[in-house]
Amino acid sequence: MSWTSLCQLDELSEGRGKYVEIDGFRLAVFLHEAQVYALDNTCPHAGGSLADGQIVDGRAVCPRHQWSFGLKRGQLRDMPHVTVRTYPTRLLARDGQPILVQADLPIF
Ligand code: FES
Repeated sequence: MSWTSLCQLDELSEGRGKYVEIDGFRLAVFLHEAQVYALDNTCPHAGGSLADGQIVDGRAVCPRHQWSFGLKRGQLRDMPHVTVRTYPTRLLARDGQPILVQADLPIF
């Protein structure tokens, strides 16, 4: 595992996804209620891009057929055995202000 920088915090918009491709990972990064979340971008239903979706009721909603996934554990609503992988995130601060979004990615 290693902390990897994904983007600047000000590149994120509340409730909307941002696509980040880094070190072989394709991620959907979300800002929701001052917390940052990183999920695998590819929807397990039919390959929709979760980064093109948005947050509804605290869940990431795929834009293609509206499957929705929990932000922390990536579980599909009503079918929690179907998941997208999620990754720990943190914000790095400068002068007391959070500026940089990082995720702990399994890079070896
Ligand atoms: S591709 Fe995501 S819900 Fe169908």
